Amino acid sequence: MLQTVAAFDRIGEENAFAVLARATELSHQGRDIINLGIGQPDFRTPEHIVEAAVKALRDGHHGYTPATGILACREAVARRTLAITGVEVSPENIMILPGGKPTMYGAIVMFGEPGTEILYPDPGFPIYRSMIEFTGAKPVPVPIREENGFAFSADETLALITPKTRLLILNSPANPTGGVTPREEIEKLVKGLEKHPQVAILSDEIYDVMTYDGEEACSLLRFPEIRDRLVVLNGWSKTWAMTGWRLGWSIWPDGLYDKIRKLAVNCWSCVNAPAQYAGIAAIDGPQDDVEKMMRAFDRRRRVAVEGLNSLPGISCRTPKGAFYAFPNITGTGWKAKKLASALLEEAGVALIGGPDFGVLGEGYVRLSYANSEENILRAIERIGDFLAR
Ligand SMILES: Cc1ncc(COP(=O)(O)O)c(C=O)c1O
Repeated sequence: MLQTVAAFDRIGEENAFAVLARATELSHQGRDIINLGIGQPDFRTPEHIVEAAVKALRDGHHGYTPATGILACREAVARRTLAITGVEVSPENIMILPGGKPTMYGAIVMFGEPGTEILYPDPGFPIYRSMIEFTGAKPVPVPIREENGFAFSADETLALITPKTRLLILNSPANPTGGVTPREEIEKLVKGLEKHPQVAILSDEIYDVMTYDGEEACSLLRFPEIRDRLVVLNGWSKTWAMTGWRLGWSIWPDGLYDKIRKLAVNCWSCVNAPAQYAGIAAIDGPQDDVEKMMRAFDRRRRVAVEGLNSLPGISCRTPKGAFYAFPNITGTGWKAKKLASALLEEAGVALIGGPDFGVLGEGYVRLSYANSEENILRAIERIGDFLAR
């Protein structure tokens, strides 16, 4: 057995992919599996976006592009950022990357090393912790609490900062909880961060427009006082149903931009040209399909929450963003991962145990409602039957 560096023994995974693999295996065995596990829209990428990519290839755009991304694509992101957040960002601060994850990786390896601490949401997207551990930095979980509507608490976050803290990771609207942190809480956090100028911030805003009931996500970009230490992660995966295209963007302060550019040159060179032309079409083209998808998610959200709350031992808050419900299952007497596994194997419903998103995820499961209303209802019926056994 070859010996690799210790960092690779610390690297984690995203269990959603393992659940997807098992669900697919069971389907291939002829089982009827309802997949509420994976976090991706069940809609097709809108047609005009696909056509833009095809046209780009036909027009001969098949060579390398700049490591930072095609200027026209970065300009489109700047227009979109202004439209959504009201904040002007220069294309010179925008990077186009292969998905949202490379920004996460870039920011975490830029600040993490042994002896430093990185704060991240728990429960939260599992790759944050995995990458922090990879760098040798100490992962410090920021509790995300149900009683707080799954928003992060400014006071609790600030209390965890020490002289060793180098990076704070925030995510709203959030995976896996669907929580949206109110503007006042973010204002309070930003005010408190004034006392900690050594702390950089990675704000994962990939679900920024995926909110419900008139709720609005507050971008960290709105606070000029932290712009020189703020990295904003975003991308096309969720909003335009483009997870498999591997296309994301991020906004970097002047002092970090050249570092992420160099990482791109070393690791992935650039993002393929047709995806970037598709990305421009996504931003500049009609948004009807996005609106249609969000209306469908909204309906399914209600169906899922109502159905879950009708089950004994389960209580579910109404999520305000993203496309996940994070029901509390403590009343069932089951441990979350055991329940998720039993539901997949015995009831044919794939969902993810809360502990796959952090220790504070115990007592919860994540259910993605990016599936048809009919399937959501069938899944709830199956869960109900299973619990009644
Ligand atoms: C909070 C969050 N950030 C980032 C990502 C990664 O996005 P991408 O697939 O574009 O790399 C995801 C995907 O599930 C996510 O939920």
